Amino acid sequence: MLVLGIESSCDETGIALYDTEKGLLSHHLHSQIAMHAEYGGVVPELASRDHIRRVLPLTEACLKDANQTLADIDAIAYTEGPGLAGALLVGASIANALGFALGKPVIPVHHLEGHLLSPLLATPRPEFPFVALLVSGGHSQLMAVRGVGKYELLGETVDDAAGEAFDKTAKLLGLPYPGGPALSKLAEQGDPKRFTLPRPMLHSGDLDFSFSGLKTAVLTLVKQQAELTEQTKADIARAFQEAIVEVLVKKSVAALKQTGMKQIVVAGGVGANKQLRNQLDEAAAKRKLSVFYPPLAFCTDNGAMIAFAGAQRLQFANHDYRFMIKPRWDLS
Ligand code: KG4
Ligand code: ZN
Repeated sequence: MLVLGIESSCDETGIALYDTEKGLLSHHLHSQIAMHAEYGGVVPELASRDHIRRVLPLTEACLKDANQTLADIDAIAYTEGPGLAGALLVGASIANALGFALGKPVIPVHHLEGHLLSPLLATPRPEFPFVALLVSGGHSQLMAVRGVGKYELLGETVDDAAGEAFDKTAKLLGLPYPGGPALSKLAEQGDPKRFTLPRPMLHSGDLDFSFSGLKTAVLTLVKQQAELTEQTKADIARAFQEAIVEVLVKKSVAALKQTGMKQIVVAGGVGANKQLRNQLDEAAAKRKLSVFYPPLAFCTDNGAMIAFAGAQRLQFANHDYRFMIKPRWDLS
């Protein structure tokens, strides 16, 4: 079965073709980062309009790369939510229009399920069950994953998501949008010993997170500086990253202990963070646990994870082409 995947929940148009026998055949992505940069964040209306321009050309590029035609597609998966309403509507309406025109079923996919299952696109891949640390711009959750559709929420952020904290802190330091990658790059030049920031909820006894206080602590630190030199900015960035990574790693290890599971997968944009990867690898190696990451290209939003998740849910494919979108939608 050949599944076309369409991701359009935020500021990336991602298209992919996944074959249930041969695996991922092709994928293309268009990021709107440059378009939104001058506004310092995603402008929803501009995002929707750009998705309209990109979905079909990227689909054509995917078909060409895979030596396939529209007629070869067996099902069309698309992100139904959560995300920006207008952006989701673009993917949903094109997917349903294509499905109707080709007489092929469509499969609505939960964006976070796409992220959760994305490490299964890599080799070696984890086996069920595993713990998933889902850290993106909109979410920070620890989930027990026992199979496709079998998700148990173990803990989540009570305020900002980890990626959101990276982005807001980067803004405080005057770094360009999107802040996460810029902040982590700057942190590499920083001295980890110069400043110490709080580790929110580290000893809360549960698996929840809180990151908004950390951003406020950075603001206080910035205000205390007589001069915000490049080195001081790098040192603050490093202190922030040290704090957030320590909390994420310790809670991940606690989630593995609580569930008795031996594997953890990291998904979502913050999973691209090098320090998080290094420290999680180290903590896991000490305890004979395994950590899995999606290929870097599939850490942030992409079409491959939607095509793949759709391929796991072929039994839910429908032919009625009545669609809705779910801008707010919990996975479990
Ligand atoms: O999963 P994603 O592409 O979109 C959402 O569904 O939110 O994640 C984007 C988030 C942004 O907040 C971005 O700043 C963050 O992931 N991010 C990073 C890094 N690369 C992306 N955060 C920290 N370090 C990185 N290297
Ligand atoms: Zn995402």
